[in-house]
Amino acid sequence: MPTYRITCVCLGNICRSPMAEAVLRRHVQHAGLAGQVEVDSAGTAGYHVGDDADRRALATLLGAGYDLAHRARKFDADWFDQSHLILAMDQSNYADLLDLAREVGADTGHVRLLRSFDPTADPGAEVPDPYYGGADGFREVLAMIERAGAGVVDHVRSHLAATAG
Ligand code: 4NP
Repeated sequence: MPTYRITCVCLGNICRSPMAEAVLRRHVQHAGLAGQVEVDSAGTAGYHVGDDADRRALATLLGAGYDLAHRARKFDADWFDQSHLILAMDQSNYADLLDLAREVGADTGHVRLLRSFDPTADPGAEVPDPYYGGADGFREVLAMIERAGAGVVDHVRSHLAATAG
């Protein structure tokens, strides 16, 4: 088991959360934390379980130099125990995760909106669903995720420092 696991969560686990997984994994690698931190992703809905990432999400990632091998998964309540930080892309994903929680506090204390780690984002800011839009929406999603990356890494570093030894 890694020291620290991050799980990115959206609705379908084919657009936003796989993009967040790829971007945050790269941030973790660049921070020298790849041996201690794993990043994965899931959806709150099961429509796309087993599917590749959406081709527009993949094209956006590849165009920006990221890579990703992906099979969509549906979030399982057991994963509240396995993940140290659960990152909801939007308020609806956040509410769905709270609904899945078995115990308020133990399960919900480590659920956050991804954009709460972007110091320039407004409180409550979301990564909007790009599924029914065009390529611009996917580029905006990528930029939003990238702006949150450093804050996520800082948060992880603080946790690792606090629990070291
Ligand atoms: P995601 O986008 O939650 O960012 O993966 C969506 C993917 C599929 C659907 C909705 C949103 N869908 O309705 O199938």
